[in-house]
Amino acid sequence: MTEILKADPDAIQRAATLLLDGKLVAFGTETVYGLGALATSNAAVAHIFAAKNRPRFNPLISHFASAEAAFEHVEANDMARRLAEIFWPGPLTMILPRKSGSTICDLATAGLPTIAVRVPSGKTALALLQAVGQPVAAPSANPSGRVSPSDAFHVLRNMHGRIDAILDSGPCSVGLESTVIDLSREVPFLLRPGGITLEQLEAVCGTIRNPDDYATKLPSSPGMLASHYAPGLPVRLSAESVDEHEALLAFGPALSGAGLVYNLSERSDLEEAASRLFAGLRFLDGEGQRRGLKTIAAMPVPRQGLGLAIMDRLRRAASPRPTASGDDDDDLESMIG
Ligand code: TXA
Ligand code: MG
Repeated sequence: MTEILKADPDAIQRAATLLLDGKLVAFGTETVYGLGALATSNAAVAHIFAAKNRPRFNPLISHFASAEAAFEHVEANDMARRLAEIFWPGPLTMILPRKSGSTICDLATAGLPTIAVRVPSGKTALALLQAVGQPVAAPSANPSGRVSPSDAFHVLRNMHGRIDAILDSGPCSVGLESTVIDLSREVPFLLRPGGITLEQLEAVCGTIRNPDDYATKLPSSPGMLASHYAPGLPVRLSAESVDEHEALLAFGPALSGAGLVYNLSERSDLEEAASRLFAGLRFLDGEGQRRGLKTIAAMPVPRQGLGLAIMDRLRRAASPRPTASGDDDDDLESMIG
């Protein structure tokens, strides 16, 4: 049974108690819903991997109520401290070297010498983290490889019965996952574009190496394998025309002729588009399949600001899918994060 908790102080306390008991609780953050477990417990974190069918080599982000709490577990350099001051709480995740005394469990870090740390700005998420008083490991609360949830309904639909509770704080304001920056190397690397833009980060850090610089090399973040965010229908990018057998994911004035349309932002606003992306993909996929449509055609979005993260998610949604072959843990379907 999955308990559905409407976020109020009692529900937050109940969710905290469940987490401290080693249970799985999905909760809303400003980015997407996370599937939380106590980050210091291998047993608790193991439930996350099982519920998501996530490959164990893909490490999780540890969430904290404050930068001070986060920096007890990682070696924060000057740049990390500056970024924390400016962007925390908020949609930024930093990869930093693990401190030897850190109590984050090995399963959460996939045994890496680094830890991904984040202080979310969602009010409910922060109140929950405060009530727990311990780091909470949380990937997005979707089955591995599928579209991330930006609303409690999305979590309910995909994870009901597989997790202990959902703390419903309504739709997520940003709607895309946090930006992941690796500060554990000599130069900062953008591992995943997200809610804080590359431009915002470069204004603080100077030049940051980004995915376009190393797109052809091996993924340096275990979760950055190509196919991800996959809806059931195939996705076609950079659509310049569309026909009646296709569902159109529009941005700005919509192309005409599609069998179904969802407009991310009629006024070409990237923030609005980011917040509607995952809901739009889910809508076009569900309704499109019901109407017998064959493809989701996506109009291009400018690769600047939040557009970089939107195009990153769309590119992954459009990547060739590994074929599902049962529930063998080693099959390719389970190699996506
Ligand atoms: O907005 C978000 O970040 C959401 C909410 C719930 O906070 N969480 C989220 O988690 O998107 P997840 O697990 O879906 O994505 C975390 C990404 C993965 O690509 C993972 O491989 C990467 O961060 N990651 C985690 N630890 C890492 C590490 N030590 N080194 C490199 N990449 C790491
Ligand atoms: Mg995810």
